[in-house]
Amino acid sequence: MISDATLKRTHNCGQLRESDLDSEVRLCGWVRSYRDHGGVIFVDLRDRFGITQVVFDTPEEGDEAGKAMYALADSLRNEWVISVAGLVRHRGEDRINPKLDTGQIEVVSTELTVLNESDSVPFEPDSFTEVAEDTRLKYRYIDLRRPEMTRSMILRHEITAAMRSVLNEEGFIEVETPFLTKSTPEGARDFLVPSRMNQADFYALPQSPQLFKQILMVGGMDRYYQVVRCFRDEDLRADRQPEFTQLDLEMSFVTQADVMNITDKVLKKVCTVAGKEFPDQVPIITYDEAVDKYGIDRPDIRFEMLLHNVSDIVAKTDFKVFTGAIESGGSVKLICVPGGAKFTRKEIDAYTSFVADYGAKGLAWAKLEDGAFAGGVSKFLNADVQQQLRDAVGANDGDILFFAAADTDSVNKVLAPLRVKVAGDIGLYEPNSYAWCWVTEFPLVAYNAQQKRWDSLHHPFTMPSCDDLDALMADPGAAKSLAYDVVCNGTEMGGGSIRIHDRKIQEKVFELLGIGTEEAEEKFGFLLDALRFGAPPHGGLALGLDRIVMEMVSAPSLRDVIAFPKTQRGTCPLTGAPAEVDDDQLAELDLKIIVPHQK
Ligand code: AMO
Ligand code: AMP
Repeated sequence: MISDATLKRTHNCGQLRESDLDSEVRLCGWVRSYRDHGGVIFVDLRDRFGITQVVFDTPEEGDEAGKAMYALADSLRNEWVISVAGLVRHRGEDRINPKLDTGQIEVVSTELTVLNESDSVPFEPDSFTEVAEDTRLKYRYIDLRRPEMTRSMILRHEITAAMRSVLNEEGFIEVETPFLTKSTPEGARDFLVPSRMNQADFYALPQSPQLFKQILMVGGMDRYYQVVRCFRDEDLRADRQPEFTQLDLEMSFVTQADVMNITDKVLKKVCTVAGKEFPDQVPIITYDEAVDKYGIDRPDIRFEMLLHNVSDIVAKTDFKVFTGAIESGGSVKLICVPGGAKFTRKEIDAYTSFVADYGAKGLAWAKLEDGAFAGGVSKFLNADVQQQLRDAVGANDGDILFFAAADTDSVNKVLAPLRVKVAGDIGLYEPNSYAWCWVTEFPLVAYNAQQKRWDSLHHPFTMPSCDDLDALMADPGAAKSLAYDVVCNGTEMGGGSIRIHDRKIQEKVFELLGIGTEEAEEKFGFLLDALRFGAPPHGGLALGLDRIVMEMVSAPSLRDVIAFPKTQRGTCPLTGAPAEVDDDQLAELDLKIIVPHQK
């Protein structure tokens, strides 16, 4: 039996300082490492808070208890769990470890209890171990002991707490919404849950609490937030998980600027907690400007190197790649890479294959050297065109121009990632810098050429900017919406909109989206009903909590900031989910597997 006293810690392993010298203390934790220095045993004792060095001195002649403790210390192995009582002493000036917060002191053990042993671990949880991710996830409890993981979990907690504290102060209340619900319209596939009590019916896990939070506004809740799990069955990427967490909020009687201001307050506090700068005034970029200058609606504004549309200038050349694209209604755009004239042929070829992955048919280039264009497509550009290009983009000798020619959408899709890739390669921005911006005035809808219909850019409840519904129906592509995204370093951190609170406008937008009355009734009837009973003007937004933490700790993947994430294949190596279920369970649900399991 472990005595109660051995569990009564006086301090944690990151706490003791010089001011505690000569104190009697008790610590509990894991053996991070042990070293036998000929008669003296040193143990690094670790818990969530830090590491403290514990010393077992050679026992005096005739000190039987001391000898027994020394023998026990000698048997310790990595990751055993122990309780140590002892005296805090100075390490001596020459043995201070400046890397540890507790590096000035050590605890001389007077009593040692082994609370639990450990099998030898599949990998050592110190910061230097490079371990395959599947192994890290299978033994996540070991991985979580790594200082980086521990730090991420703590920062995640602090960020969540900061978000809550700002919103609590601003008069928001946290309300929970159901997980077993109906499909919500965020554009991904639903995860479905069969209902035992309602044969052949399914719940859908929410892609977001969108409809419920709007109904909470109709219910007079005024200011709502929730730190909430969302579920989306979509192809996974480094910044996408099938279940992820949003800070979701909604407000009544507000303008777009009100929602953006509250979000700025939340983000400022989040950044303060994470020890990062946040601007007093977050730049606001319209969607059109973002797409024009950065080629994308989530611009990375840590650096310039903007996209320039040079269609007018190169239309006069004989270069078919350029003129052909322009004649078919497309564009020629370029980026001017400062100092890029030094790129080797091999480097240029590598960028050409990089853009090919984004669908480019090629990458035209020209270097600027000694007052003229050199190499690549220079021969197609006469002196006059060269001068006009220089003037238009402010290019200098030593730069390289990278051109893309195609329909404008494809040009943007190629140059946007190229811009970010090249900037990273040549060090155009500080690796630890943060550049936030708002993107506003999104189009209401985008044309889906495959399905021959208009799709919402945000979701179908987003308020159009214009009051004139006839104009909206006449030229849907030109309509803007009261939607806004907040972006950091080129990643979308959050998005929201002012909602349609008027049933007539909502019906019109459904009509535009080709959602018939019956379908609307079937899918969102409960929201449409609510809109009939005194819905206040309202709007809101959701921040991607995982993405924010990922950015704050500069992690390469969301998996580094989620305690129990899924792999790229949507599996959990720890639990083995998803997994087969018993026939009995299937029978209870009246379900039958038709295509047998393939593993
Ligand atoms: P949206 O779909 O833009 O908006 O989501 C809001 C934010 O959630 C994060 N996010 C994700 N994070 C990790 N993995 C994913 N698969 C994932 N998908 C989204 C992003 C994104 O900006 N109901 C609306 C919000 C509103 O209108 O109020 C919504 O869910 O950071
Ligand atoms: P070509 O005439 O096909 O030999 O191409 C001449 C140059 O133009 C090469 O450097 C190609 O990589 C480049 N190129 C070809 N198609 C495009 C395009 N759509 N956009 C930009 N550059 C292109």
